[in-house]
Amino acid sequence: MAIISVINGPNLNMLGTREPGIYGVLTLADIEQSLSQLAEELGHEIIFYQSNAEHDLVNRVQQSKQDGVATILLNPAAFTHTSVALRDALLASDTPFIELHLSNVHARESFRQHSYFSDIAEGVICGFGPKSYELALLAAIALIEQPRE
Ligand code: DQA
Repeated sequence: MAIISVINGPNLNMLGTREPGIYGVLTLADIEQSLSQLAEELGHEIIFYQSNAEHDLVNRVQQSKQDGVATILLNPAAFTHTSVALRDALLASDTPFIELHLSNVHARESFRQHSYFSDIAEGVICGFGPKSYELALLAAIALIEQPRE
């Protein structure tokens, strides 16, 4: 049994009503509920965190080792395109992470096409709406159960 931490950045607390044409109609609570269920079925524990504040996200990432987190599933939201601080926190925490996005950031505005995380992530999943979270969870579990050589 591994602990997987799901960390969501700014404005993802608004899912459900926020630009539903892009992000869908499910709330973050809906996504968390189905993800918890899937993790439990697969024999792993999942913990959730969302913040609109960069320093809170940095603090949370720094805590990962103490919390016994095996892998982080990270949707940095707008901080994807801006946050050196959050990138540095991930490097400092030395915890593997998967970057994920609901939307296909590569098919949107040009400023969304650069990420401060992709080159240091285990992998990146984007463009599958709420399913991106499930796909990221399955990828994380696959890596935990069968680490790369
Ligand atoms: C997002 C994409 C980001 O560009 C945006 O700022 C978000 C959400 C996504 O999940 O598609 O807030 O990370």
